[in-house]
Amino acid sequence: MNPIRHIPFLLALLALATSTQVLADAKRGKVLHDQHCIGCHANMTGGKPELLYTRHDRRVKDLAGLHRQVRRCEQNLELKWFDEDLNSVVEYLNSSYYHF
Ligand code: HEC
Repeated sequence: MNPIRHIPFLLALLALATSTQVLADAKRGKVLHDQHCIGCHANMTGGKPELLYTRHDRRVKDLAGLHRQVRRCEQNLELKWFDEDLNSVVEYLNSSYYHF
């Protein structure tokens, strides 16, 4: 067996590991979400903001839709988040509520 043949695979694995680490961090997503997003959703739901994400007729139907909706709300607020911030909030909402 020639170990050199494994290098592209190992590099791909490394890239995947670092990119998911840098690009999405659910803990950081929760901090950003609780700071910027939860208040308005709480007002809309009588103090139960998670209802917005778990109700039967929720708007978001898939991961791409979740990205779009987080982007839409973020842009309305003019937060000017980096992609890492956005991805972290998506990761937080998906791992906690949507489970796509
Ligand atoms: C000023 C009020 C307000 C703020 C602040 C706000 N949102 Fe929203 N959000 C809304 C409204 C209005 C809807 C649409 C609800 C509907 O159509 O029933 C919504 C819906 C959503 C949904 C879709 C819920 C579903 O039905 O599946 C997501 C996800 C979401 N917001 C994420 C965020 C994120 C992330 C932030 C912070 C960057 C944020 N929102 C901040 C008003 C707000």
